[in-house]
Amino acid sequence: MCGIVGYIGHREAYPIILNGLKRLEYRGYDSAGIALFDGEDIKLSKTKGKVNDLETKIESEISTNGTLGIGHTRWATHGIPNDVNSHPHYSNSGNLVIIHNGIIENYESLKKELIKRGYSFTSDTDTEILINLIEDVKLKENVKLGKAVQIALNQVVGAYAVAVFDKDKPNEIVVAKLGSPLAIGIGDNEFFIASDATPFLEYTKNAIYLEDEEMAIIRRHKDVEIRKIKDDSLVNPYVQELQMNLEQIEKGGYDHFMLKEIFEQPSAIKDTYRGRLLSKEAIIKMAGVEDNMKRFLNAERIIFVACGTSWHAGLVAEYIFEDLVRIPVEVEYASEFRYRNPVIKENDVVIAISQSGETADTLAAIKLAKSKGAFVFGVCNVVGSSIARESDAGAYTHAGPEIGVASTKAFTTQITLLTLIALRLARAKGTISSSNYRLHLLELEMIPEKVKAALKSDNLIKKIADIYKDVPNFLYLGRGYNFPVALEGALKLKEISYIHAEGYPAAEMKHGPIALIDENMPIVVIATKKGHYDKIVSNIQEIKSRKGRIIAIVTEGDTTVKELADHVIEVPETLELLTPLLTTIPLQLLSYHIAVMLEKNVDQPRNLAKSVTVE
Ligand code: G6P
Repeated sequence: MCGIVGYIGHREAYPIILNGLKRLEYRGYDSAGIALFDGEDIKLSKTKGKVNDLETKIESEISTNGTLGIGHTRWATHGIPNDVNSHPHYSNSGNLVIIHNGIIENYESLKKELIKRGYSFTSDTDTEILINLIEDVKLKENVKLGKAVQIALNQVVGAYAVAVFDKDKPNEIVVAKLGSPLAIGIGDNEFFIASDATPFLEYTKNAIYLEDEEMAIIRRHKDVEIRKIKDDSLVNPYVQELQMNLEQIEKGGYDHFMLKEIFEQPSAIKDTYRGRLLSKEAIIKMAGVEDNMKRFLNAERIIFVACGTSWHAGLVAEYIFEDLVRIPVEVEYASEFRYRNPVIKENDVVIAISQSGETADTLAAIKLAKSKGAFVFGVCNVVGSSIARESDAGAYTHAGPEIGVASTKAFTTQITLLTLIALRLARAKGTISSSNYRLHLLELEMIPEKVKAALKSDNLIKKIADIYKDVPNFLYLGRGYNFPVALEGALKLKEISYIHAEGYPAAEMKHGPIALIDENMPIVVIATKKGHYDKIVSNIQEIKSRKGRIIAIVTEGDTTVKELADHVIEVPETLELLTPLLTTIPLQLLSYHIAVMLEKNVDQPRNLAKSVTVE
C-alpha cells in the first residue's frame, strides 16, 4: 500500500507530484506529504489526512518551487496516522529525505544498532530507521548516495519501493524496489517515478518497471542507471510503451469512480473476451492457455489463490471449473494458504487471481506454489504487475484501470476470463459437447448487452436503498453459482457503507442466521430462475414467515418470487453458469447508493486500500 511519486527534470515538480498523489490515493489515504528541493534546501510539508488536506496546508507552509521532489500518500502500518509518522522522512542530519511503500521487518534490530551509534528518531515508523541506516552507511563508508542505499538495503528484511534524495546532490534521485511496485517514466529530459504509471501518463508513455531487487540512479538531464541490489550488476533497462490513456483514469462525468466502473462493465467484459472468443469459428484463443495446454490437461487439481473480491471470483470459478472441466478445485485465501504448509504437488495448477497484481499474500502464495513445482497461471488486471511477472503464464482481464477501492468491474471481468479458460479446457478435455460449447460462447457474447439491461434498474435500486439505508444489518443469500455473489454483495456493503452484512448459502440460513431474522432485517436473496429456484423459493418462504424483509434479484418476468418479496430487481435470463455476471450488478448498485445516501466516501472507504502490499 502507500503511493509514491517523484520528479526530476525541467518543470516545476510540485503540481506533478500533487496530482500524482491524487491519482495514487487509492493506495492509501491516511496521510500525505511532499519534499521539494528549491535550489538551496529541502522544503518539506506533510499532514495527517488526504492529499486535499496537504494541498490546503502546503502553500502556507513552504515555497513550492523546485524541479526535484518526492511525495507520498500513506496507508499506515508502523505508527498511527499522524503528522509525524507521515512521509517523507528526514535523516538525522537533515540532508537526506525518503519516501517508502512497504514494511521493514527487521526494523527493531536496525533501530537498536542506530541508537547505539547516536541516532535518534522522532516518528514510530520503520521508514525513519531506513533513511538513517542509509545516512549511517553513507558517512561510515564514505560512499555516494546510490551505494549507501544499496548497502543499506542489503541489510534490510522486508518489502519496499523507496525514493531518496540528498540535498547536497540535487541532481539525482535513487529508487529501489522489492515487493512493492515502482515505475519510472522516461520523458524528454525529465524523469518521473511512481507506484504505477498514472501520475505521469500526460507527460510520457514510456516507462520502465523495476523488477524486485533492482535499484536505479536517476540523473537529471542524463540517464537512468539500473543495478541489482544484491550483486551490483548493471541491468539493461527495458522501456515499455504504456497502453493506458488519461480518459481511462478520470471520472468522465460520474460522481464517483465506483459508479463509473460499475457502468463500464458492459465494455470491460467485452474487452476481456475481445480477440479471444471467436463465436463464428467457435473457438477460444488464449496464448497463455494454448502454450501450456499440456500442464492444464495433466493437472490433477486446480487451486485458486486470491484475496478479497478476487477470492470471491475464485469461488465462482470453482463452480464453473468443476462443472465444465470436471476437475477437482480448491479455492484458498492466499494469506492462509501461504502459512499452513499446504500439500502442493508438481502437477497441480495454481491460478492466482488479482486485480492489482500486487497483493502481498497472493504474491507470496504463488512463490510458495512455484517452489513446490506447481504451474502458476496469473489472472491479473494491471499489466506488468508483480503477480503477472512472477507467474509462469497468465492472461490479463483488460478491464482498464479500476480506481474505486471497492472492486466492481474487476470481479465481473475475472469471472469472464475464468469462464473462457474453463470453456477452452473443457473443449480440449472433451467434457463439453460441441453444441453446448457453442451455446456457451453465444451466451457469453450476449452478456455485455444483458449487463446494460441490468444497469437500467439503477433508479429502482436507489429507491430501495433509501428505504433500507439506516438499518444496522443485512443478510445476503444465494445458492450454487450465486452463493459467492451473496458473499460479494455483503462485502461491497460492508466496505463502503460500514453496515454490517453477511453472505450465506441460502440453505445454511436455517443453521444459524435464521435466528437473526425479524421485521427489521433486510435479506437480499438471489433467486434467478435457473439452478435451485424451487429451493430458494422455499427459503424465501421461510424468511417471509419470520417477517424478514425480502429484496429479491430475479429473472425477468418472474412471478412467483414477486408475490413473496417486498422488492424485486430483475436481471435478464442467461445460462445458469453466467448468472453471477448479471446478479452482481444490482448488489453493486445497492451498496453504492446506500453509501452515497449515508454520505460515506465511496471511492476511499475508511481503513481500506486498493492495493494491499503488506501481509
Ligand atoms: C483489497 C481491495 C479489494 C481487493 C483485495 C484483493 O482489499 O480493497 O477490493 O479485492 O484487496 O486485491 P487484488 O488486487 O489482489 O485483487
